[in-house]
Amino acid sequence: MASNEKHQVQTTGHTWDGDLAEYNNPLPQWWVWVFYATVVFAVVYWVLYPAWPMGGSYTQGVLDYSKRAKLQEATSEATLREQYPERFDALNKIAEMSPAAIAKDEDLMNFVNSSGKVLFGDNCSACHGAGGQGVVGHYPNLADSDWLYGGTHSDIRQTLINGRNGYMPAHEDKLSDQEIEAVATYVGDLAGEDWAQDPQKIEQGEEIFHGDQAACYACHGQDAKGNQTLGAPNLTDAIWFYGGEKETVIETLVQGRQGEMPAWQDRLSESEIKILTAYVHALGGGQ
Ligand code: HEC
Ligand code: HEC
Repeated sequence: MASNEKHQVQTTGHTWDGDLAEYNNPLPQWWVWVFYATVVFAVVYWVLYPAWPMGGSYTQGVLDYSKRAKLQEATSEATLREQYPERFDALNKIAEMSPAAIAKDEDLMNFVNSSGKVLFGDNCSACHGAGGQGVVGHYPNLADSDWLYGGTHSDIRQTLINGRNGYMPAHEDKLSDQEIEAVATYVGDLAGEDWAQDPQKIEQGEEIFHGDQAACYACHGQDAKGNQTLGAPNLTDAIWFYGGEKETVIETLVQGRQGEMPAWQDRLSESEIKILTAYVHALGGGQ
């Protein structure tokens, strides 16, 4: 038992029952030092940083982080003002101006076009495409002059602040398959689609469109030119949100459609929303 002899363990010196001794195994030195180090760290930490709760407040710590954060904010504003005076000026002006007024200011629009492009890329292009061209069947084109909810600065700004939820009801329970095909053909004919030429179906479809069973006119208007308050699209142009193939129009009617544009008021600052409003308006189709 050579190894046992080498590592002879100390005992506390007490013996019980003649031969029952108690080992005395001290903690390893490294462990003890790590332990002391954590105690010292904790004390230093309490002194330097916010640490202990005190009623409604807490110990601030001598480094006083909350004040430092404010200081940092102020310096970064000062840095912005000093190093990028043009950017600083532009942001200040934008904070005070309406998107329509911004659009009339050429210098500001240069700024809007560059910073708007970045904001659009970060927040919007995943759905609407890098140039705002949209994806037929999913996300509307923002670069044309066809608007579901209106293309004025204030319409676009409202769209961004609150989001939009288009509601086109399903008609599978209201109309028979034959009636759905007829009204689809009527709508296809309004948009001048090649597949929509059967005069009998068009006539029957027109009656259904204006009848009270389906009441398409209540949302899309008697002239089928749409209603921007509801986001009901104009059906008389050849610009389709969900698509103008016969199958797609029938699918729209059977299942209904519920497009969802998220709201941005909690995710973007007011100035960012103004920049994006002016940017989207200028993409091509602003009114
Ligand atoms: C998750 C996908 C998604 C994202 C992200 C998104 N949108 Fe939309 N957006 C939509 C959908 C879907 C609609 C159509 C809503 C409807 O059918 O009612 C829409 C509609 C719009 C409209 C109304 C178009 C019209 O014809 O009236 C505008 C303007 C718009 N989006 C701008 C933006 C901007 C700017 C951003 C970035 C801040 C953005 N969208 C981010 C999905 C998205
Ligand atoms: C309650 C209002 C409402 C009624 C009733 C309604 N629609 Fe719609 N319709 C909408 C809205 C809103 C949209 C856009 C949906 C979206 O934004 O996702 C739409 C979309 C459509 C589209 C898709 C257009 C495109 O560009 O892809 C077609 C086609 C259509 N409706 C035809 C009809 C017909 C035909 C009827 C009657 C059988 C009808 N709608 C009844 C509100 C309505």
